[in-house]
Amino acid sequence: MVEPSEPGGEGLPGGLVVEDWDALTFRVNRIAYRSQQIFRRERDRIWARTWLYLGHETEVAEPNDFRTRVLGGRPLIFCRDAEGEIRVFLNSCPHRGTVLCRETEGSTKLFQCFYHAWTFRNTGEIAAVPGRDAYEASEGFFDAMKLRAVPRMAVHEGFVFVAFDPDVPPLLDYLGDAADYMTMVNEQHADGMEVLPGTQLYSVRGNWKLAVENAMDGYHFSPTHNTFVGYLRETGFAVTDDDQYAYNLGNGHSLLVLTGHGGRISMLWEPRFGEDEKRRTAEHRAEMDRRLGPERARYVADESHILYVFPNLLLFDLEGLSIRQLEPAGPGRTDVRAWQLAPRGEDEDTRALRMKTMVSFVGPGGLATPDDIEAYEAVQRGIEATADDPRAGLDYSDMSRGMVDEVKGVQGRSIDEGAMRGFWRHWVRAIGVADGLAVTGTRPASFLEGRNVR
Ligand code: FES
Ligand SMILES: [Fe+2]
Repeated sequence: MVEPSEPGGEGLPGGLVVEDWDALTFRVNRIAYRSQQIFRRERDRIWARTWLYLGHETEVAEPNDFRTRVLGGRPLIFCRDAEGEIRVFLNSCPHRGTVLCRETEGSTKLFQCFYHAWTFRNTGEIAAVPGRDAYEASEGFFDAMKLRAVPRMAVHEGFVFVAFDPDVPPLLDYLGDAADYMTMVNEQHADGMEVLPGTQLYSVRGNWKLAVENAMDGYHFSPTHNTFVGYLRETGFAVTDDDQYAYNLGNGHSLLVLTGHGGRISMLWEPRFGEDEKRRTAEHRAEMDRRLGPERARYVADESHILYVFPNLLLFDLEGLSIRQLEPAGPGRTDVRAWQLAPRGEDEDTRALRMKTMVSFVGPGGLATPDDIEAYEAVQRGIEATADDPRAGLDYSDMSRGMVDEVKGVQGRSIDEGAMRGFWRHWVRAIGVADGLAVTGTRPASFLEGRNVR
């Protein structure tokens, strides 16, 4: 594919995102999903320069636990050292660059490179180098050959973030209003939350931004997931899109607040959870009222949330809680990792119900996720049809839904496309293409951003 040349500099066109407040339209140039050049720019301008979600501290619960991850194409070791401190290293041997740890998870005090057998402690220090006396024993040489830590690491409510740029702002400033929704997750249970064993790992033949759009897209729920919707109806649950809202939280983060489908295990009962669970839910809900106060308990327990933390974290706080991490592997391919987050010390029956419910909806073989993956793969295939079409405006995707309400100052609904618009505005600023955002008319004074319930 030939990319359009160049008014914006750097080989990319202006008008990647076109926002028109006279016509009330919002459009995204589809090269954003296809272009290798944009993919590389995202790596440089986003993945290399902002906080990224790495994992949850309970994934390395014990000293010497480790997991390996890849973020922005960089292999990483996420571990708890022998003293119990969380550490994140580049998973690349300081000797000649080999991937050092080739397991996905486990427990070890030492990482040994298979190439020349240099061996490192999980604190990063060199433990052994074969034939060490062949090196000039200059002070500092082996010191400088320790494992490389990531430049920044910070933890919020158990969620571990890293940054490859040492100059990123403090994590809490970056998270802004999104931080409190992560706190709410931890408040769901008096003993806090833990990631359950097992990772759902799958690759999608679609651009990562399609996965973000999909998560913020209540509009697709009924048509795309009609099997699931039918199942909910059969079990006596009235599915509705009323009173469900979308919020831009700033910095590209967004939030859907959903009350119209699904129930919430141990917090908001519905018939398909069964009678025993009804009693347990009532007890737990009463405990939450005492612990958090009725108003906070209502936000934590009775609302479902889909929280997106730019650029790579999605929290599906629905029937249960699923953490999803997006790792773009190319313009048309995304690796997805997902984990279940559950209350520590949960009742066994509730835990079993949670597992069953989670895999039946958001799991890779559930009633929802395969539909969603098919949707983003179908978009990725479909947008090839308009690539390089010389007719003006054809090679664009439309995200105008709900702008009509935005100009009136009405809070955007989850079935509108306002959360996506917030994402794309942030994205286009972040990749820093000259004239990347083309705005016509004036954004209304009533334009709403943020939701802070604290
Ligand atoms: S590259 Fe790791 S020991 Fe040589
Ligand atoms: Fe979906």
